[in-house]
Amino acid sequence: MRVLFLWPRKKIIMRLNELQLKNYRNYQELQLSFNKNLIIFLGENAQGKTNILESIYVLAMTKSHRTSSEQELIRWETDGAYVSGLVDRGRSTIPLELFLSKKGRKTKVNHIEQKKLSSYIGQLNVILFAPEDLSLVKGSPQVRRKFLDMEIGQIDPIYLYDLVQYQSVLKQRNQYLKQLYEKKQSDEVYLEVLTEQLIDFGSKIILARKRFVERLGYWANALHQKISQEKEILRIDYLSNVPATAQSLPAIQQYFTQALAQVKDRERFRQVTLVGPHRDDLDFLINERNVQTFGSQGQQRTTALSVKLAEIDLMKEETGEYPVLLLDDVMSELDDSRQLHLLSTIEGKVQTFLTTTTLDHVKDKMSVEAEIFYVEQGHIKGE
Ligand SMILES: Nc1ncnc2c1ncn2[C@@H]1O[C@H](COP(=O)(O)OP(=O)(O)OP(=O)(O)O)[C@@H](O)[C@H]1O
Ligand SMILES: [Mg+2]
Repeated sequence: MRVLFLWPRKKIIMRLNELQLKNYRNYQELQLSFNKNLIIFLGENAQGKTNILESIYVLAMTKSHRTSSEQELIRWETDGAYVSGLVDRGRSTIPLELFLSKKGRKTKVNHIEQKKLSSYIGQLNVILFAPEDLSLVKGSPQVRRKFLDMEIGQIDPIYLYDLVQYQSVLKQRNQYLKQLYEKKQSDEVYLEVLTEQLIDFGSKIILARKRFVERLGYWANALHQKISQEKEILRIDYLSNVPATAQSLPAIQQYFTQALAQVKDRERFRQVTLVGPHRDDLDFLINERNVQTFGSQGQQRTTALSVKLAEIDLMKEETGEYPVLLLDDVMSELDDSRQLHLLSTIEGKVQTFLTTTTLDHVKDKMSVEAEIFYVEQGHIKGE
């Protein structure tokens, strides 16, 4: 799509070869090298297993999946945290660095500081599966929009730019609607300008999300059918203001314009923008029934898992590279057949980091050799 390939595409498995932490969470100093495709962090509760997975996620995304506060990531009673990694992308090895302090964050690629977030994100692609991922199915629409933004943003930096622009225009437009209502403003032309910009950036977001969801749905269903032994078909519907038939940017712009025109009076009364991708949602359906409403716990969990695993194929399709997979404490949540399927899907295919409190339920089933690190109070012992 928007990614340029200057060399013939070939399958590349992205790998994290080294990880270094300084004053990150409960790690004062940590340096690890990874040589196998399956890396397991084993340890009791509250030792720092998730912290390591989180640090890899933070290295890739500059943000944590667990908190929006950077301060929380910095080791108590210290001023700043440092995370660095050596990313092997087949044809090159790229050092990535992230500095977190009270003043904010700083990123470096190849030792060169990156001012723009979009030029940093995408260097290391990760997919994380954590127990809280069930909220993708059970949570609010906001969770699903955030999921879309994070995932598309990783493979398409222009999407992130459009999103920031859209959010800024949306904010201005809402403020202006409020001012119009309070009769502090009467300039209709300015509202029209904002509406045009809203449609412009919003339509690009809708198109990107639409394309992403179609392909995500394809791969997720393929996996879901396997896991359910062909008993269940998973469908993902993208719920937006534009109908499914609108496949091109002009068609989406047209529908978006019409939808805004229809709510013109209501918007003035309510003083908020009533249509646009900030109100999008996703619907997960198993055998045509909504999973959120009718799905069992197991079906909801399988749906979340299928969606996450589908991202591996999707990212490979988009970037030509297999991302790094981070699985936080998921084995214990799955029954034997699902654990087996999960392992057979990832075995040898992608570099996988996995945390667990016990190896009993995975040890005998694994056919790949694993690198095991024992985690104890912010320290690590190799096998
Ligand atoms: N900013 C921080 N500075 C120092 N220590 C921290 C910080 N943030 C969290 N911790 C410590 O990290 C510990 C939790 O680590 P983590 O979440 O990685 O545990 P875990 O090994 O994944 O455990 P579980 O098996 O329960 O999931 C907490 O008990 C806390 O003491
Ligand atoms: Mg944990």
